Amino acid sequence: MKVDVLLGLQWGDEGKGKIVDVLTPEYKIIARFQGGPNAGHTIEFDNKKFILHTIPSGIFNPDTVNVVGNGVIIDPLILNKEIENLRSNHIQVTNNLRISRKAHLILPTHRLLDAAYESHKGKGKIGSTLKGIGPTYTDKAARNGIRIGDIFRSDFKEKLQTIKDQHLKLISLYNFDIDSCRFENLSFGDYEKQWLKSLEQFNELDIIDSEYFINEQLKANHSILAEGAQGTMLDIDFGTYPFVTSSNTVTAGVCTGLGIAPNKIGEVYGIFKAYCTRVGSGPFPTELENEEGQKLRDEGGEYGSTTGRPRRCGWIDLVALKYAIMLNGVTKLIMTKADVLNSFNEIKAATAYRHHNNTIEYIPFDASYEQPEPVYEAIKGWNTSLENISGRNNLPEALSAYINYLEKQTGVPVFMVSTGPDRKQIIEL
Ligand code: GDP
Ligand code: IMO
Ligand code: MG
Repeated sequence: MKVDVLLGLQWGDEGKGKIVDVLTPEYKIIARFQGGPNAGHTIEFDNKKFILHTIPSGIFNPDTVNVVGNGVIIDPLILNKEIENLRSNHIQVTNNLRISRKAHLILPTHRLLDAAYESHKGKGKIGSTLKGIGPTYTDKAARNGIRIGDIFRSDFKEKLQTIKDQHLKLISLYNFDIDSCRFENLSFGDYEKQWLKSLEQFNELDIIDSEYFINEQLKANHSILAEGAQGTMLDIDFGTYPFVTSSNTVTAGVCTGLGIAPNKIGEVYGIFKAYCTRVGSGPFPTELENEEGQKLRDEGGEYGSTTGRPRRCGWIDLVALKYAIMLNGVTKLIMTKADVLNSFNEIKAATAYRHHNNTIEYIPFDASYEQPEPVYEAIKGWNTSLENISGRNNLPEALSAYINYLEKQTGVPVFMVSTGPDRKQIIEL
C-alpha cells in the first residue's frame, strides 16, 4: 500500500475538507501532515455544517482513524473547542483520533508574537490568520519549540515559563499593546488560562509515535490518505513568498510531516476551484476587483472559514495551476465550485503572463514585487444548473468542453467535479 495525497493547488480553500469527506469511506486512515488552525476545512451533510481546523476531515466516518501528524502544529484550546463541538453533535471523536507526540504546540505567546510581527509590518503585512503559525514554526526550526510529548515530562512547566519569558522580551521590543489582543474572543489573560486548562485533554487523547503507526498501517496494507492544508501557492518554499504560510504544503511535506519515505507516495489528488480565490495579502494576477469578482464572491460564498474575511476572487490561473501540478506530481485533478460559474456567459483562463514586456508561461521570481499581468483565453460558459448530473456523458456541453480544455492544458485527467457544498453534490467522471 502507498499513501495517497489530497492537497490544494491554489491559495487554499479549494474545498479540501469536502472532498476528503467524500473520499473517506475508501480509506482506513486520514492524516494531516502540516499547518495548524490557520486551516478551516468545511464539511456539509444532512443540513449540518462543520468547520475543522486541526482534526482531519475523515472524522465523520466512524470506521476511519484520523491522525494529526508530527508536521502539524496544535493550539490545544482550539483543538478542545473542536472536539467539544463534534461531541455535542454526536460525532465520535476520541476513539478515532491519534495525535503525534512530535507535533509542536502553539503557545499563547506565539499568538502574541504573530500579532506583534503583523502590526509591525504595516502595509507589508502577510494577512496572517493570527493563529501563531509563523512564530511556532520559527521556534520549531530554531530548536526552541515544545512538543505534545513534552507535556507529560516533569520539566514541562519550567520549559513553558522559559519560552514565555523569551517571547515576552521579544514582544516588548515591538511596543505592542497586549491588552488590545483578543484570541478566540478572549482577552490574552483569559485565553492563556483556558489554554493551560485545555492541556488536560491530552491525558485522555491517544498520543502516538505517528511515524511508526503510519508505517505499520502501510505494512498491514491499510489505505491512507494524507490531507493537505492551505495550498501550493502558500508553500513556504514555492509559494508567493513572503506572502505564504510557514510550512511545506506540497506533496514533499507529506514525507516530513508524517514520516513516510518518498517511494511510499501513491496517487496525488490535486484540488482546484473552477476559478480562483485568495485571502490575505500577496500577488494574485487574475484577481477581479470589479463586478465580476463580486459576483464570484457572492455566488461562491467566498468568506474565510477561519477568519470570516472576504476572499479575493478572480479567474483561474493556468500558469500557477501547471506550476502546482509540477511541484506535487499530481496524478488526478478534482475541480470544485463548478456551480459558482453556472450563470456566467463567458469564463476566462490565464494561460500566460505579460511581465517586463515579455510573454511568459512560468512564475517569475519577482512576482511578489511586480505583479505579472494575465493573458486570458475566453471560454464559453454552460449557463445552466448542475443539479442531478452524474457521469461524464451527462455534462452540459460547455462544461465538458471546459474540462477537456483543462485536461489538455495540464496533461492530467479531471477525476471529480464538485457542484455544491454538500457531500452528495459531486460528479465522478
Ligand atoms: P478548504 O479549506 O479547502 O477545505 O475549503 P473551505 O472549507 O475553506 O472553503 C470551501 C468552501 O466552499 C466551503 O464553504 C465549502 O462548503 C464550499 N464548497 C466546497 N465545494 C463546493 C462546491 O463544489 N460548490 C460550492 N458552491 N461550494 C463548495
Ligand atoms: P485552508 O487549509 C486560505 C493564508 C493567510 C495568509 C497566509 C499566512 O483552509 O485552505 P498564516 O496564518 O499561515 O500565517 O497566514 O496564508 N492562509 C490561508 N488561506 N486557506 C487556508 O487554509 C490558509 N491558511 C493560511 O490568509 O495570507
Ligand atoms: Mg479553508
